[in-house]
Amino acid sequence: DAPRPDPAALLAWYDRAARRLPWRTPPGAAARPDPYAVWLSEIMLQQTTVAAVIPYFQTFIRRWPTVAELAAAPEDQVMAAWAGLGYYARARNMLRCARIVAAAGGRFPADEAALRALPGIGPYTAAAIAAIAFDIPATVVDGNVERVMARLFAATDPLPAAKPRLRALAAGLTPARRPGDYAQAVMDLGATVCTPRKPDCPACPWREDCAARRLGLAAELPRKAPR
Ligand code: ADE
Repeated sequence: DAPRPDPAALLAWYDRAARRLPWRTPPGAAARPDPYAVWLSEIMLQQTTVAAVIPYFQTFIRRWPTVAELAAAPEDQVMAAWAGLGYYARARNMLRCARIVAAAGGRFPADEAALRALPGIGPYTAAAIAAIAFDIPATVVDGNVERVMARLFAATDPLPAAKPRLRALAAGLTPARRPGDYAQAVMDLGATVCTPRKPDCPACPWREDCAARRLGLAAELPRKAPR
């Protein structure tokens, strides 16, 4: 039979092991995080590591605590605060997006398609904001999630051709309960346990469900097509 990893087992792991990142609320908290903080963090994380983003996120959220304040900031000040993060088109789109959201009343839309219509928000970022900020069961797929799915289901077909199948597998696991915590839990699992090299399988809440581990393939997946 195909493995059926239990999202609840991953959530229980996340409740213990979640990375405490400044844009997060504690796992299982009733309060949702501020959508503005979630959006800001996801824009910064698009091409940048968590460790590099943290100090920039702190600077921005202290200096411009609301989307209205960011929207009112002069572009040169925003660009100066962004300096060092790279991919400067991200910062310009971020400011355009802030101005649109602020002009529309200051609330980010709780809807994946409406989020995707905003500057700088692609399919990944829209799904991440929908899930994390609004607890919508959107399928959030980044490189971490692709790796976790490839291993769980022993998908040996190489990237990038395997992407649609890995997305479908991820969609099939996304739970109706706590989808925001779940999305962050899969990312944390990929970042801290199901790592590209030397995965820490004994620490994995899904170790008994993992087809790649059973086959001794975990460290080899996902495969990549030769370039
Ligand atoms: N990478 C992108 N978004 C993330 C998040 N919310 N948590 C951890 N890693 C991430």
